[in-house]
Amino acid sequence: MSAITNITSTAQVSIEKRVAELISQMGLDEKIGQMSQLQGGGNSIPHDLAESLRASRVGSILNEVNVDIINEMQRICVEESRLGIPLLIGRDVIHGFKTIFPIPLGQAASWDPDIIEAGARVSANEAASAGVNWTFAPMIDITRDPRWGRIAESLGEDPYLCGVLGTAMVKGFQSNDLSKPGSIAACAKHFAGYGAAEGGRDYNTANIPENEMRNVHLRPFKRVAEAGVASFMSAFCDLNGVPATGNTWLMDDLLRKEWGYQGMVVSDWESIVEMSVHGFTHDDEEAAYEAVMAGIDMEMASSSYHDHLEDLVAQDKVSIEQIDTMVARVLKLKFELGLFEKPYTDPDEHVALLDKSALKAAKQAAVMSCVLLKNERHVLPLSHADLGSVAVIGPLADDGYEQLGTWVFDGEAQHSVTCKQAIEEMIGRTVDINYVKALDTTRSHNDDGFEEAVAAANKSDAVIVVVGEESFMSGEAHSRADIDLPGHQAELIKAVASAGKPVVVVIMAGRPLTIGNILDHADAVLYAWHPGTMGGPAIADLLFGIESPSGKLPVTFPKMVGQVPIFYSHKNTGRPATDHTCFNMEEVEPRASQTSLGMTSFHLDAGYKPLFPFGFGLTYGDIKYVKITTSHRSISLGETMDIAADVVNTGSRAAEEIVQLYVRDLVGNVTRPVKELRGFKRVSLKPGERKRISFSLHTDELAFYNRKMEHVTEPGRFHVWIGGSSDAELWADFEIHS
Ligand code: NOJ
Repeated sequence: MSAITNITSTAQVSIEKRVAELISQMGLDEKIGQMSQLQGGGNSIPHDLAESLRASRVGSILNEVNVDIINEMQRICVEESRLGIPLLIGRDVIHGFKTIFPIPLGQAASWDPDIIEAGARVSANEAASAGVNWTFAPMIDITRDPRWGRIAESLGEDPYLCGVLGTAMVKGFQSNDLSKPGSIAACAKHFAGYGAAEGGRDYNTANIPENEMRNVHLRPFKRVAEAGVASFMSAFCDLNGVPATGNTWLMDDLLRKEWGYQGMVVSDWESIVEMSVHGFTHDDEEAAYEAVMAGIDMEMASSSYHDHLEDLVAQDKVSIEQIDTMVARVLKLKFELGLFEKPYTDPDEHVALLDKSALKAAKQAAVMSCVLLKNERHVLPLSHADLGSVAVIGPLADDGYEQLGTWVFDGEAQHSVTCKQAIEEMIGRTVDINYVKALDTTRSHNDDGFEEAVAAANKSDAVIVVVGEESFMSGEAHSRADIDLPGHQAELIKAVASAGKPVVVVIMAGRPLTIGNILDHADAVLYAWHPGTMGGPAIADLLFGIESPSGKLPVTFPKMVGQVPIFYSHKNTGRPATDHTCFNMEEVEPRASQTSLGMTSFHLDAGYKPLFPFGFGLTYGDIKYVKITTSHRSISLGETMDIAADVVNTGSRAAEEIVQLYVRDLVGNVTRPVKELRGFKRVSLKPGERKRISFSLHTDELAFYNRKMEHVTEPGRFHVWIGGSSDAELWADFEIHS
């Protein structure tokens, strides 16, 4: 397994030796201590916790970010416990620590591994300055259901994109050496299948056939495992009848034996004892037993290991060898992090929180995350030289808290720069800014502020409406069944549009929203997700043309929630819908016979297409794709083929375009998706510029798990597309022979 962590094999050997030596001196209670993670937080160390630290009954603390308290905890462990083993300090540093970056789904819209790596680097540095040495990120669950609140925390629907971007995030957190100051351990979560929760209800059951598990859900996990992610977290869900936390097929047969993963596995919060709530175990003791059998090295928050492992060993149900293997993985990580050499944190050795460079990176990430969904008559970018006044309207136009999004424990609204503030700062000296909040919250149904909003629109040359979802409306346990813009925000957009001025809608949200009902009332729509601390300046730069939008959707946007799940890499079915076979039920004659209307796979009231496809996003240029070629008509297994196309900017403004490569394997031992992303490249194009963009594709990149769960590339015919979204039309074909 190739590892990002640049530990030379000699260093690795010496770590293994040190781990073995330490284990040989440990009592069973001290070993179980290493397998237990407790909750911190608060202004002091409670007496009981201090005693537990002294007695080596704790291996890790989570949710403590006071550096003095962390240092004191480390001191107790290192100086007052028998063997002096330092602590792992875990925290959900999901999209920033103090400097908040766009939510992960927004970052994924950048399709830019470099900006994601840079963001994770900043976050790691800031978190490390507080004494945190382990984050519970990246979340690389495949998410194909926008109702699920945790889609916000994900990198989207596609296994390839998720794998590439997840790896970049791991690299950013861990750098090339975990022991370097400012590096923290990453955690691939939630292993596995959590994103397939029934109905998008969080924590719900996932039923995923093994073939789909391997070809879709497990792919990003395998990729980050190969890239050296330091830890994995088990998922809360029941996976095919066995909770992931006690799933020996998943955790042992696959992760350990098949993939050879040697990092540490932590449970999710109380997910060991919740196995009894699932109805999989009778009590905490049995739950602890099942978790050990699966190979969960550390228990988060609950205490079933602490309470029952000694007994389980005494009853010969769990062997000391098993315990030693698990403890070794915990200790190995502590050695790799350099905690034995340097257990204490000196904040002064780190770049300051919210440093200029951090804010710059956060702004750049927000710029690259925004997706331009509509730009009628090139209304954007706005030219402030041509504007006397602009209306800035909406509940999220000036709300520093809500723009931060979910999973923000340490970021603070006071550091956010809002759209209103940024627009004022940028053009306020020469242009009148008419600001009206209009709705108290995004959920408000009270239209009292509409009159003032319409008046502001009437007296302005252009209108910017900032709407969306509040932070709490996505994230853990925060799913929605209706994913329209909440409250009366759609009505607000319609009301201000009646003024007849150019209307630009900016949407801040934690998920794809069904926004078909507002598209006709907006000249331009910029999807900003929850953009983080520097959301305002990033959006202002985009709206006024200092920057050009380049984001592309990392997830399909449905027209209506009833289409869910809808994703681009679906199977063809035996009766695929086409434009010719699909009709709208409004147009059907009364008493039409069942069969006269065609028999294909679509919804009578929604058709078969989404509102916006995966990969979609406009720029300020006009991008065209022409002249696709393949270097060969046919290649053998083991060979590489080049596929190229011309990308042309026929517009009058410079643009950055994310060029995407999709492939279809026409016939397989198991059916293959209609399109699968296999590459992407960011390209800058001046007005009128044409560039030839080429991708290399090795036949191994077309491998998939067949009916026997063998990972193989099958000879046969393939289609290949190059384009600006998963709707790409420019295609060629080629053959692979054995
Ligand atoms: C539960 C969440 O599912 C997980 O993602 C998170 O890391 C832990 N809680 C710790 O806060």
